[in-house]
Amino acid sequence: MKSSLFLVLLVAFIWIGPSASKDALLEPVSKHGQLSVNGIDLVDEKGEKVQLKGMGLFWSIWMPYYYNKTTVDGVKNLCHSNLVRPMIAVDTQDGGYLTDPDYEDALTDAVIDAAIADDIYVMVDWQDFEAENHLEQSLKFFDRLSKKYGSYPNIIYEPYNEPKTLEWSELVKPYHEAVIATIRANDPDNVIVLGTPWYSQRLDLASADPLANQSNIMYSLHFYSGTHKADIRDTARQAIKRGLPVFVSEYGVVNADGDGPVDKEETALWYEFVEEFGLSTVNYAISDKAEGCAAMLPNSGVEHVCEEAYLTESGKMAVDFNKS
Ligand SMILES: *[C@@H]1O[C@H](CO)[C@@H](O)[C@H](O)[C@H]1NC(C)=O
Ligand SMILES: *[C@@H]1O[C@H](CO)[C@@H](O)[C@H](O)[C@H]1NC(C)=O
Repeated sequence: MKSSLFLVLLVAFIWIGPSASKDALLEPVSKHGQLSVNGIDLVDEKGEKVQLKGMGLFWSIWMPYYYNKTTVDGVKNLCHSNLVRPMIAVDTQDGGYLTDPDYEDALTDAVIDAAIADDIYVMVDWQDFEAENHLEQSLKFFDRLSKKYGSYPNIIYEPYNEPKTLEWSELVKPYHEAVIATIRANDPDNVIVLGTPWYSQRLDLASADPLANQSNIMYSLHFYSGTHKADIRDTARQAIKRGLPVFVSEYGVVNADGDGPVDKEETALWYEFVEEFGLSTVNYAISDKAEGCAAMLPNSGVEHVCEEAYLTESGKMAVDFNKS
């Protein structure tokens, strides 16, 4: 009698277990604490696998008005996120860290301070495509950041958004090693997510020559479902099966240029892939520009971030996924 009840409970647990709802809003920093990487998995302070789901902000230089606590409150509570990703402009025609580091530092800190107050994780993206050419500035940026915030479990570093180059071993890997050394001098344990060649899609190149002797390192995969399909998933799947820990630090449900219609079918396949490995994701973007990837309707204003009536089709898909 006892043992058959146990069996029924066990079967019920196994049956309910994997399909149990995981609303990212209910998985804050106070629940998971210090993150680390175990094998291919992101794990929490108890060593249990954790999946972060969040929203990325639009480029700091073009939408600085989103870089404050009003936005982060909306991202957490209404976009059901446990992660926010400020996108720090480095080298654009309108400026960035190279021309005004103090301004970019202030925007970065505003989002980090809000994320800490709101009990969510924050991934700081150095939004550069040729970061190996700006190593000196990058080291300065991440040195200050890791000194100021390295003791908080909230912070995740992303020192190179999307390397355009295919020269992983020659250019990208040495860049990462230099930034990691700088961060680790101040912050021994928070997770660092590394950009991979060709706009963070050629995970095969990274998995053929991963960094040695580092801990709490993951590698980024970026996708836009309207453009990127099964072949990119296959490359990523092989890299993961070879042992590469992967973090989807940016994805869109439209075309790779950020515009075009929502591709529902391909996005469903991508979400299936993400769930196959329990990967963490960041949707792009909290933006009210009139383009496909914007989560907010044009001119919706910071006070309405993630309110349902102001979400686009893309924004609604991301929120539904964050809740699931
Ligand atoms: C954030 O910025 C918006 C737009 O400038 C403003 O309306 C809002 O009051 C700001 N929130 C905070 C907490 O400063
Ligand atoms: C990694 O660490 C081991 C043990 O300390 C050492 O023998 C090896 O040379 C290191 N490899 C690299 C690439 O630094």
